[in-house]
Amino acid sequence: MEDVLLRWRGEFPILERTTYLVSHSMGAMPRSARAWVQRYLDAWEEAGVTAWERWEPYLREHADRIAQLIGAPPGSVVMHQNVTTLFGAVLSALVRPGRRRKVVATDLNFPSLLYTLRAHEALGVQLQLIRSPDGATIPLEAWEHALDAQTLAVLVDHGIFRSGFLQDVGAIGEMARRHGAWVVVDAYQTAGCVPFDVRDWPVDVVLGGSHKWLCGGPGASWMYVAPEQADRLEPLLAGWFGHREPFAFDLELSYAAGAMRFATGTPGMPALFAARAGLEVVLEVGVRAIREWSQALGQQMVDHADSLGLEVRSPRNPERRTGMVVVDFPGAEEAARELGARGILVDYRPGAGIRMSAHFYTHPQEVQAAFEALADLTRRARR
Ligand SMILES: Cc1ncc(COP(=O)(O)O)c(C=O)c1O
Repeated sequence: MEDVLLRWRGEFPILERTTYLVSHSMGAMPRSARAWVQRYLDAWEEAGVTAWERWEPYLREHADRIAQLIGAPPGSVVMHQNVTTLFGAVLSALVRPGRRRKVVATDLNFPSLLYTLRAHEALGVQLQLIRSPDGATIPLEAWEHALDAQTLAVLVDHGIFRSGFLQDVGAIGEMARRHGAWVVVDAYQTAGCVPFDVRDWPVDVVLGGSHKWLCGGPGASWMYVAPEQADRLEPLLAGWFGHREPFAFDLELSYAAGAMRFATGTPGMPALFAARAGLEVVLEVGVRAIREWSQALGQQMVDHADSLGLEVRSPRNPERRTGMVVVDFPGAEEAARELGARGILVDYRPGAGIRMSAHFYTHPQEVQAAFEALADLTRRARR
């Protein structure tokens, strides 16, 4: 497998210059992204306004490729600039006067979507945050405890951005369903790294985006809406691309069928073309192969961290961990900066530590090099 995966390294120019261990934050740019963006520019230059005749089908084509990645049926995925906007649109379809108000999430969720929930407190939303007992994981019982007949929805991060903990979406979804709550999953930290099939999950909505494991750059997020639920959802954040007939310029709102009703206004086409290259590579490599490789290299990271006496903040069980490993020690923030200065790209998050990850293009020697540098830095700090 090693040979097959590492053959892709030449497709990612930044790997020639850096030790790239930060795909959990921003995947490396594939060389082929230029050709995809060029297609967008060519259409715009050659066809002007009639470029929409190419871009509209492209929009559906791209969304259907995402659907293929996550096991969703064609037509059940909509594209948008970021997941916060998509989540806001979903929330605007769920919150109604006189109905359930409680939304359950955790203090390990990615904060941006929590801000959307906080802002909706003005409309009566009650955000109940489950507190992690260890800053890294959330026990299933805590979800069970938090759910009740007043729960409108749960917001479940499949992979936790601070620790790489993988939540059991199936089990949480079942619990939420038993209480009649909507199930919204944020899979940004896992799509393209951990295989999943949305049709195997008892969920209504799955959010994700392209700039991490999908190597697609920013501005190309997506949302799956379960087809059997989509037509029950009427977003208050509505717009013409989400209208049944955008070009009828009707004064009345008539929602498009399915996920497309969440499209709001004009889509950001350049980002969708830029994101296609990485998506195609990931589809070709296969998420199962990516998972196997990143688990093997993740174990290598955990072993190195143990031998240096660094605290491992991620779950040790590889089945409960995303592609990311988080290590902490006094001076970790400074060390992350120093690694960057040496061309070893990782990141640091307060309350977590240094986050690092291997993708299909990562060589085991790069992991080795990063930990040799960390050994040097921690030795110096102790002197
Ligand atoms: C779990 C999770 N959700 C969402 C985001 C990003 O949200 P948005 O697309 O709104 O910027 C990130 C990180 O970028 C994330 O880690």
